[in-house]
Amino acid sequence: MAILVTGGAGYIGSHTCVELLNSGFEIIVIDNYCNSNPESLERVKHITGKEFKIYEFDLLNYEELENVFLTNDIEAVIHFAGLKAVGESVKKPLMYYHNNITATLVLCKVMDKYGVKKLVFSSSATVYGVPHQVPILEDFPLSTTNPYGYSKLMIEEIMRDISKSDAKWGIALLRYFNPIGAHQSGLIGEHPNGIPNNLMPYISQVAAGKLEQLMVFGNDYPTSDGTGVRDYIHVVDLAIAHVKAVKHVMYNQGIDTYNLGTGRGYSVLEMIKTFEKTSGKKIPYKIVERREGDVAMCYADPLKAKHELGWVASKGIEDMCEDTWRWQVNNPNGYEQVTLVSSTTK
Ligand code: NAD
Ligand code: UD1
Repeated sequence: MAILVTGGAGYIGSHTCVELLNSGFEIIVIDNYCNSNPESLERVKHITGKEFKIYEFDLLNYEELENVFLTNDIEAVIHFAGLKAVGESVKKPLMYYHNNITATLVLCKVMDKYGVKKLVFSSSATVYGVPHQVPILEDFPLSTTNPYGYSKLMIEEIMRDISKSDAKWGIALLRYFNPIGAHQSGLIGEHPNGIPNNLMPYISQVAAGKLEQLMVFGNDYPTSDGTGVRDYIHVVDLAIAHVKAVKHVMYNQGIDTYNLGTGRGYSVLEMIKTFEKTSGKKIPYKIVERREGDVAMCYADPLKAKHELGWVASKGIEDMCEDTWRWQVNNPNGYEQVTLVSSTTK
């Protein structure tokens, strides 16, 4: 019996593959590498010392997907595959809706046909829109402002309907806050294409001298130092939550939603300071206008995941910065540099 991981070569998927393999699960990965590199999966094998099947195709391809279910014994699915850049989704809404929603429909249809009704889905804190208060609880009102966010919101709705229609489904909707960091080995991590949109990869490229300075988007928010506050969560903590969630759906029917965050918010300036301390590098920055669509504060109440999944985040922002920096130093061009470079082995 295996866990099928869609988008397993990506940032969060590759870290989850490591944790699944280390927990004794057999895995099968599907990825079309539209935003990743097959090298990440080679490194997953290197870190864990374990082999697994990899299929390269687009999840939109019903026949290929059906073949995977026909030829393997699949117990549950963790569905990471999707496009995730907010700005790009505004420019290319059709591409985002088709890739994220249609591919999920294809996946659920095939799962239904083959009686595999256990699913963990990657949602996002973006579905809370502008939260009326923090910390954010799972039952807060949902809204969003861009096609990426709508694709997550619609998929959540589709999954609630599937669950209502057939009690045999066991589904976990995981709402990630701000995943950052990298595996401690320095072998797998996040390498965005082009200039990063998100804070941590941007800071890390400034520290490496690849970008000149960080633009801090606004210092007039109602927060302790005026800069935006977010709930940063280490990607390995997030990966471990997926192992707990997949076990949960295997033994439970119905649909459950979980916030995955630490429950603590940090400001942009706090993140800069911590990164400078752990990397020993200066991060030049300039305060600029607020970024459209940004909220002042966003952090989770993660207690539901603690009580029902037995999961709590264990790593702090120092670990997040240290591991991001190790990954950056060892892999200045991401997976383009194909030789394995590791500062620690496991
Ligand atoms: P990622 O881009 O690194 O990984 C996604 C993977 O899916 C990539 O390997 C990509 O090649 C693959 N993929 C995309 N469309 C595909 C398709 N049609 N067929 C096959 N493979 C396909 O992104 P990530 O950061 O690892 O995010 C994983 C999931 O978590 C996504 O659904 C994303 O929306 C969600 N999420 C991410 C964040 C974040 O900050 N990284 C936050 C909240 C939610
Ligand atoms: C962003 C997305 C969100 C998505 C999440 C995934 C937007 C508006 N929101 O969230 O939908 O789920 O990424 O990780 O794109 N910042 C700077 N300078 C920068 C980059 C960021 O000051 O160059 C600030 C932002 O204003 C914010 C904080 O850093 O206060 C974090 O930003 P980011 O990493 O982009 O994450 P979110 O905005 O929370």
